[in-house]
Amino acid sequence: MTQKTFYITTPIYYPSDNLHIGHAYTTVAADTMARYKRMQGYDVRFLTGSDEHGQKIERKAKSVGKEPLEYVDGIVAGFKKLWEAMLIEYDDFIRTSEERHIKVVQDIFKKIYDKGDIYKSEYEGWYCTPCETHFTERQLGENKTCPDCGRPVEIVKEESYFFKMSKYADRWLKFIEENPDFIQPVTRRNEMVNFVKQGLEDLCVSRTTFDWGIPVPINDKHVIYVWFDALTNYISALGYGTEDDSLFKKYWPADVHLVGKDIVRFHTIIWPMILMAAGIELPKAVFGHGWVLLSEGKMSKSKGNVVDPLVLVDKYGVDAIRYFLMREVPFGLDGYYSEEALVTRINTDLANDFGNLLSRTTAMINKFLGGTVAAPGEGTEFDEELISLAQATPAQVEELLDKLEFSNALIAIGKMVNKANKYIDDAAPWALNKDPQGREKLGTVLYNLAEVIRLAAIMYTPFMPTMPQKVWAQLGISQAGEIHTWESLKWGLFPTGTSINRGEPIFPRIDIKELGKQEEVVSETQPKQEVSQAPEAPEFEPILPEITIEDFAKIDFRVAEVVSCEKVKKADKLLKLSVRVGNEVRTIVSGIAKHYTPDEMVGKKVVLVANLKPAKLRGIESRGMLLAASHGGKLEVLTLDNIESGGRIK
Ligand code: MSP
Repeated sequence: MTQKTFYITTPIYYPSDNLHIGHAYTTVAADTMARYKRMQGYDVRFLTGSDEHGQKIERKAKSVGKEPLEYVDGIVAGFKKLWEAMLIEYDDFIRTSEERHIKVVQDIFKKIYDKGDIYKSEYEGWYCTPCETHFTERQLGENKTCPDCGRPVEIVKEESYFFKMSKYADRWLKFIEENPDFIQPVTRRNEMVNFVKQGLEDLCVSRTTFDWGIPVPINDKHVIYVWFDALTNYISALGYGTEDDSLFKKYWPADVHLVGKDIVRFHTIIWPMILMAAGIELPKAVFGHGWVLLSEGKMSKSKGNVVDPLVLVDKYGVDAIRYFLMREVPFGLDGYYSEEALVTRINTDLANDFGNLLSRTTAMINKFLGGTVAAPGEGTEFDEELISLAQATPAQVEELLDKLEFSNALIAIGKMVNKANKYIDDAAPWALNKDPQGREKLGTVLYNLAEVIRLAAIMYTPFMPTMPQKVWAQLGISQAGEIHTWESLKWGLFPTGTSINRGEPIFPRIDIKELGKQEEVVSETQPKQEVSQAPEAPEFEPILPEITIEDFAKIDFRVAEVVSCEKVKKADKLLKLSVRVGNEVRTIVSGIAKHYTPDEMVGKKVVLVANLKPAKLRGIESRGMLLAASHGGKLEVLTLDNIESGGRIK
């Protein structure tokens, strides 16, 4: 049987001497996916690289008295150092200044020109140099600024080559309809479809105002537009159209291009249209993830700090940083970085939950069993639940990872880890140890724990590549490579009779109070800048899957008048409200205390979900739920004025 292939790419990065934690985000996600697929037995190709041409680089190089290539050489060396520190195991690193790339870009340009889909004309319009993008007047922001980065745009007038994008709009829309998973997540697909439906203009694909670029093959006064040049990297790196195109044949179409949301348009509209024009198959999917933004939290008082991944790796270890990036924010949405959030994650998930599980288990194997894992035999009443969860988790994790739901996959592993922690408390090995009849059960309980740890460590491997080695060493199975594999995610393979080697905690707790006294993680060598220039507003939550009108009709919404309201003791988010719904008065508990005082609520007519199953919150039975909208940290309760309480809303 031929081995299945998996081709994954990151964007190629602009040569900038301050790559930050946000840049590392895309690369860590791609590397995690690549490692997972390799573990699953795929023949993986993982590509990253650098996007080196353009006016911005030409100007920057000049300002430091260097030739462009000399300037970018130094920066690319820095990229490679960073990726090494982040344990990014790419299979190829493409530089757009390389001959192998230049040739392919020129060939594709020529092919499309010969076909008549690239033509010469005059361009006059607005151009954002930092973004290397042309804009029409109506696309500009206030005061003639770039709609993407907000900086001033320049007017340019020149003879240019144009690519007939408009010709491909209908074909593109049809393709998207037939391939609904091509643009992910779905919210980004809707944005792109609307964009194309509004009408596309032909794209200016050459420039004459600078030299640092790939010459247009039929006219060397022009250089090729940087995005046309850059996007082609995904196939030039596979030797497309060259004498040896075996990699292209093997890996193309790509399984997924991972990109940040700011460059989804280039990857899902321009790139597919270039490929259509060149007669090349389209990639299978483009996933646009959200931004990592700086939070206002204590750990980053001034927003002007570079959050330098190298410094973070040095301080907290690469596994913890990778874990944080993949766990903290659902892939696709925006999220905030703060050192406090990072430390909290390390302390809770890694030190308390997983680290502690290993530590408690090895301590008990040492203390109760003389350091040797016994064969499982008669068990306890708690085993079944733990074992069935441990057996179900790998399939769940696979399903989630296949959808690039990194955070949910980690949550699923974490649930299994926490179940095991609870199992220790329930099965109470210390009590079994005291019970002369309890020896066999004790052996079984500790076997089960060692086995859960093994399974968790395997599933954590793509996220935290160095951690599992420490776990194998402590569990005494370093040499047993066959039970570290994805294939060995089966219950009961832990070798009995193994002597363990209890060691230091694999994730020591970090004292959060100490942290405030230390320097923030900022680079000493790099200029101050923000983590990103993205607007610091969180994304809207994705729209949930469709429901029918019948589903909707099951919910009984009523107008309810708040007759009294008070704070719930020792719960700073909760208010307890008495509401009148027609003739009935009910108690409800609502998590709005941070946004409304009790006095403000009294007298309001709110919207109540009246047939919601009652739930107990802090010991108070809440009979229904009131509706509120929230976004960007704000929350507002829905209210009505003119309808009597008890009135139905539908
Ligand atoms: N050179 C282009 C890509 C060309 S691909 C054919 C480019 N380069 S970039 O260096 O500006 O960005 C590289 C990647 O880093 C993009 O996916 C971008 O979205 C991502 N990020 C940059 N800052 C980011 C955050 N703060 N958060 C998350 N990702 C961010 O665009």
